[in-house]
Amino acid sequence: MVEKVTIAIAKGRLGEKGVELFTNSELEIVREKKSRKLIFTDKNKEVKYIFVKPADVVTYVEKGVADLGIVGKDIILEENKDVYEILDLDFGKCNFVIAGFKNGSYKKKNQTLRIATKYTNYTQRVFENRNQKIEIIKLNGSVELAPLLDLSDVIVDIVETGKTLKDNGLEVLEKLDYVSARLIANKASYRFKYNIIKKIERILGVSE
Ligand code: PRP
Repeated sequence: MVEKVTIAIAKGRLGEKGVELFTNSELEIVREKKSRKLIFTDKNKEVKYIFVKPADVVTYVEKGVADLGIVGKDIILEENKDVYEILDLDFGKCNFVIAGFKNGSYKKKNQTLRIATKYTNYTQRVFENRNQKIEIIKLNGSVELAPLLDLSDVIVDIVETGKTLKDNGLEVLEKLDYVSARLIANKASYRFKYNIIKKIERILGVSE
């Protein structure tokens, strides 16, 4: 019997790159150009591809609605869900950083450091064991604006080329974790759908 599997893919740049990895493989996704459908399959209907918001990929996988997911490590660190991370897909390479003005001190001994970020859980953890009072200001994007408008002292964000920081007069003050696209698996699926998951790992470039 053919094992069937569902893969949740983060909508957007990262997900598109993920989809490309299946091109010319036996599991290539079949989809009409410009379609807004959210579910697709390969031609043999072995794989169901579902497209969801990046932060929801880990939820679908943890709950077992999807067996696998393709999502950035930044989201995995932020969401902190109970899933296996099984493969570094080696694209979407970025770094989590603390960034701000070059001469702005970000270690404020007795003052509260104001940090703007999309990644509030991650930021909380980063500062957990530091002797620094912090206030986290949750934003949903364009985080670089916050220090410019004095909404925050620094930001915690991902940096790829560094262009956004540079163009806004900000600098990396401290490098945190390396992030990239990852293949994640539901824990039960990883045991019970082992064969097809191994096949997908091979297609996605693992050298076993
Ligand atoms: C991300 C990130 C930075 C930018 C970094 O934002 O939050 O703002 O990319 O890229 P760079 O180092 O190559 O300049 P995204 O484009 O996802 O948009 P957002 O600001 O709406 O989150």
